[in-house]
Amino acid sequence: MEVTTLGNLADSATRTLAAASDSPRLDAELLLAEAAGVSRSTIIAFPERLAGTEVRDTFEQLVEQRRAHVPIAYLLGQREFFSLTLEVRPGVLVPRPETELIVETALELIPEDGPALVLDLGTGSGAIALAIKHERSRANVIAVDSSKEALVIARRNAATLGLDVQFMASDWFSALEDHEIDVIVANPPYVRSDDPALAIALRHEPAVALDGGRDGLDAVRLIVANAIRHLTPGGYLLVEHGDYQGDASRALAEQAGYRDVRTLADLAGRDRVLAARAP
Ligand SMILES: C[S@@+](CC[C@H](N)C(=O)[O-])C[C@H]1O[C@@H](n2cnc3c(N)ncnc32)[C@H](O)[C@@H]1O
Repeated sequence: MEVTTLGNLADSATRTLAAASDSPRLDAELLLAEAAGVSRSTIIAFPERLAGTEVRDTFEQLVEQRRAHVPIAYLLGQREFFSLTLEVRPGVLVPRPETELIVETALELIPEDGPALVLDLGTGSGAIALAIKHERSRANVIAVDSSKEALVIARRNAATLGLDVQFMASDWFSALEDHEIDVIVANPPYVRSDDPALAIALRHEPAVALDGGRDGLDAVRLIVANAIRHLTPGGYLLVEHGDYQGDASRALAEQAGYRDVRTLADLAGRDRVLAARAP
């Protein structure tokens, strides 16, 4: 039988994944660690270790899926978000690092030492809601999603992390009473329906989490129009959007009667979050 080392496997998978991933070496090492049941640092420190047939077969299957653009987080079953390890599976969006901006902004607005009512719209894996609850234990956090699959995973993440968030099935605001909410956060679907990424790089993630309609703003429009009557006077709305949607999102908020309407940019200077206050 041909003898293969961990190092050889990682090298050849890095070449295989070059066209499908921005980080082929990292992906190869993470998948090999998963297949071999060891840490990534073991793969890096001991490339001369031999790999058995079972490890090789499992690894090849994982690499093949990654080559077909299955997100690495689905293959590993988890993703780090705001220092929390979250379970992620097909059926739920993989939380993105850029979404941490909305959490950081919300944390500046939520007192550490007092109660506050926070709503996360389209919670997916629970990422934003759980990160906020983890940092602001006195806040009451409600999180909604229309996807039953997402809610199963979000509830499981909350239980694993021991965080008390109230999850509800809801088509945006439909299941909510007119609460006086202090901060509403949302990372809604905002990709334009004709964006080719939906058919390629994003095709394994749920369309309901990504497709924002013709101009990508269907959900943003609905959320901006309705959040105002659920917010306490002076309460904040924070909505993530695409980097080309800053002007349009601000215009929606201004037309709806919010004040202090702003766009927040990420570290790369790209427009990323609409921030607005209820009158
Ligand atoms: C971009 S994902 C965000 C997931 C998560 N908040 C995050 O940041 O990783 C959008 C989420 O909105 C949910 N969603 C889509 N349409 C919805 C609707 N009409 N009502 C409630 N949630 C909806 C999707 O199921 C998905 O979980």
